[in-house]
Amino acid sequence: MKIFIISNRLPVKAVKTESDNFEFIRSEGGVATGLSSLEMPMEKHWIGWPGVYAENDAEKETIIAHLRPHNYHPVFLSPNQIQNFYEGYSNSTLWPLCHYFFTYIEYENKYWESYKEVNKLFCEVAIPLIEPGDIVWVQDYHLMLLPQMLRHTVEGISIGYFHHIPFPSYELFRVLPERAELLNGLLGADLIGFHTHDYMRHFVSAAERVLDLRFKLDQVLLDNRMVYVDAFPMGINYSLYHDAILKREVQQKAVELKKSYGTHKLILSVDRLDYSKGILHRLRGFDLFLEKHPEYKEKVSLAMIIVPSRGKVDRYAGLKTKIDETIGAINGKYSTINWRPVYYFYHSFNFEELVAMYHIADIALVTPLRDGMNLVAKEYLAAKRDAPGVLILSEMAGASIELRESIIVNPNDVGEIEQAILRAMEMPEDEQMHKLRLMQKDISTQTVDKWAAGFIQEMNKIRSLNEVLK
Ligand code: UDP
Ligand code: G6P
Repeated sequence: MKIFIISNRLPVKAVKTESDNFEFIRSEGGVATGLSSLEMPMEKHWIGWPGVYAENDAEKETIIAHLRPHNYHPVFLSPNQIQNFYEGYSNSTLWPLCHYFFTYIEYENKYWESYKEVNKLFCEVAIPLIEPGDIVWVQDYHLMLLPQMLRHTVEGISIGYFHHIPFPSYELFRVLPERAELLNGLLGADLIGFHTHDYMRHFVSAAERVLDLRFKLDQVLLDNRMVYVDAFPMGINYSLYHDAILKREVQQKAVELKKSYGTHKLILSVDRLDYSKGILHRLRGFDLFLEKHPEYKEKVSLAMIIVPSRGKVDRYAGLKTKIDETIGAINGKYSTINWRPVYYFYHSFNFEELVAMYHIADIALVTPLRDGMNLVAKEYLAAKRDAPGVLILSEMAGASIELRESIIVNPNDVGEIEQAILRAMEMPEDEQMHKLRLMQKDISTQTVDKWAAGFIQEMNKIRSLNEVLK
């Protein structure tokens, strides 16, 4: 028995170098980082897009050859598909819809046509690889039609789907012209998973109202099979982050960084450049903090790691300009010869640099306006290991349901962010340690391996139950 993870993005991406070769680097984003370190008791394969347009067969062959030893199977997208499926329907229609950015949603028929076409393409790549008895686990909103396509074309397999982003309430979801097709697409799976019970309830209510189905708690009977839905909050590879500071390379990095930030406190934020992450609100909160508490000037800096993301989508490109301007304005207003209020990094960090930053940061400021889970919050807590630290976390992130000992804020309320920073700055070290330990205990048991094992165990159970119905 093999498991096939199918997601839009593979955990590594090919990047074209100046000499027209390819460099392969790890992909950012929760799905890729979270699932790439999964330990599975069966042969694991991964089907997905390598993140680049391969112009000819030779380029495709180079990519295939590099990925083959890892059991990664690339799906090549054309420029038109990248534009209309990835930037279009996935990230200009579904992403804003699921993150409650109602006015950002773009309705374009060519996006939808391309979405159907690419879901079919993923299905075609998967078919020759999958055998009866295998498990296929489809990941995320790019591939909502795929479970049903697979159900209709391959017999004898278990199909799971996990939605890594919020599922919006019915009142929002109903605006989509393609709402019924998407729900039917998902119902091709045996098990549909969400990070929280709220997202799951929203899905159930959308399916009941749009498709006129009747769920019995977490299950619904369709023809001759049951479909199950459940909440599975995703975790991280805890020991990877917790033990990272034991590596000499990370320790050296941490020492270097500490030296360069001087003796003042460091607040850290880490996100892809995305309007759902609340970056501008966060900057306004920090600005207000400096304005209202001038005694903290020259005593604290905010380090913002912003990873470039979806730069060809208009809403993202526009946001970049606003962030640049806002950071410039804050630094212009408060900087002194000896102190810079905001350090701004507009590129991704490698693992060692990132965990060293997590480890030395006194405060993590994680304030998305909406976020399916947010793994950065969990990674920060793990990477602190035995050092004190405070997590300020948005109540709109799925992670806030579990991380109750963090300082929870409404990310739309700039005054609340300012107050939370003050509270974090003044929190006694023993209180920081106490809260950190409680949260570390939780996330060290709810790891990503346990998350995946729980999902697959549930799929196996459903397989046996559905055998009886046949
Ligand atoms: N990340 C990374 N390099 C960076 C910054 C972030 O690999 O320079 C990773 C980070 O470790 C985390 C992921 O990107 O695992 C972000 O996941 P999260 O769930 O917080 O948000 P998403 O980007 O999936 O919306
Ligand atoms: C979120 C989505 C993932 C996606 C990631 C990075 O975490 O849930 O499916 O891979 O963002 O976005 P990108 O568009 O670069 O794949």
